[in-house]
Amino acid sequence: MSQEAELIIEGKSIKLPSIEGTEHEKALDISALRAQSGYVTLDIGYKNTGATQSAITFLDGEKGILHYRGYSIEQLAEKSNFLEVAYLLIYGELPTKAQYEEFNKSITAEYQVPDAIKTIIKAIPKEAHPMGVLAGLISMLTSYYPETTVENASADEVKKTIVKLLGKLPTLSAYLYKHSLGQELVEPRADLDYCSNFVNMMFSEKGKAYTINPVVVDAMNKLLILHADHEQNCSTSTVRIVGSAHASLPSSVSAGISALWGPLHGGANQAVIEMLEDIKKDGGDTKKFLAKAKDKNDTFRLMGFGHRVYKNFDPRAKIIKKACDEILKALGVNDPVLSIAKGLEEEALADQYFVDRKLYPNVDFYSGIIYKALGLKAEFFTVLFALGRLPGWTAQWKEMREANEPIGRPRQIYTGKVDREYVEISKR
Ligand code: ACO
Repeated sequence: MSQEAELIIEGKSIKLPSIEGTEHEKALDISALRAQSGYVTLDIGYKNTGATQSAITFLDGEKGILHYRGYSIEQLAEKSNFLEVAYLLIYGELPTKAQYEEFNKSITAEYQVPDAIKTIIKAIPKEAHPMGVLAGLISMLTSYYPETTVENASADEVKKTIVKLLGKLPTLSAYLYKHSLGQELVEPRADLDYCSNFVNMMFSEKGKAYTINPVVVDAMNKLLILHADHEQNCSTSTVRIVGSAHASLPSSVSAGISALWGPLHGGANQAVIEMLEDIKKDGGDTKKFLAKAKDKNDTFRLMGFGHRVYKNFDPRAKIIKKACDEILKALGVNDPVLSIAKGLEEEALADQYFVDRKLYPNVDFYSGIIYKALGLKAEFFTVLFALGRLPGWTAQWKEMREANEPIGRPRQIYTGKVDREYVEISKR
């Protein structure tokens, strides 16, 4: 039954229609409120504002549920692979065998990047943070493929842009990694599956024998799947709002990468490992750092803890924690940072401050430990997050454009000075 809310303001009754999603989430449609009453709503940080209606990802933060297109994250992480999940997110259904093969083939054909981009990568300082560089390189791709910027591109042109990005992002990421290590770039291999090719480009060295470890490939698939979409988070909202101005998919993704870099968002995975290393260097006293996190006069926060929407547990963190134990065991890694992480988690979960605020470990708490076990430099952790999130950004951009959503343009409540007379500089 459709519900309606009544808002009485300045003696006038305004009716606000309600909307219910397929998972029974409820919203009030306030889009006509200003026209009817002169009022806008104020919700800094969009804590209670739905920006769109979307059929891609569902999450219930209270129950710890995450679904992509109706499939549970637990099933997808266990049974699927990253490319299949990418197809599911972007096109709405799991691919048939023929669709999967065609998708895979078209992406494989896009592994190579222009030689000029390789030259640019080699000229970039090795110490540069890869997220800043990656945002630039993705945007720069539009200069080599101007067709990716076409306004009102056809479905076929969009499809070609999608496979270009999926094909080239792993290559760019791995090239940046090799360059940062001062090693020769490893060429992509079309004979390998998506994750094996990426692992090979990242971890093999030219001139040295290297065997691709299936444990590492499996971990990579899981991690990328777990990061593939997360509805209207900071970077995804960025992608949608940039795209709403009819900016191209690569430009919108580039903006998403910049948003993801922030330590309160995807950059938290790097921040977690740096925090754990700091605790280790400081003697391993987790209680001291817990006290710092609770102290309102201290800016320190427990990185990898807390989430805007998960107020129970982050289902991704649960899967990652298990995967982390398995991977460390399989690789024979005994990392003291892991016991610090476990101690910190146990103490925080039993601490009233964290209990009261419903602060649980999020996806970034354990992912960094896996990346570290795989031998990755901390600056590259968020690059892997971006690689995983690309299908989500793409699906959300496509959905927004196909629905012909209007340009994103929030209102504000002005709190500055009013109506002042200009004074000549000589008289100030
Ligand atoms: N450590 C200590 N206290 C915390 C933490 C934390 N990690 N997170 C939240 N709190 C406290 C806040 O100080 C606040 O306390 P108060 O009510 O006494 O003022 C309360 O919990 C609510 O926190 P908010 O900042 O209002 O929650 P918000 O939803 O705005 O922020 C965020 C969510 C940004 C994730 C926050 O929890 C945080 O900074 N976490 C650490 C960074 C992190 O791990 N980010 C990754 C998130 S997952 C992702 O983006 C992939």
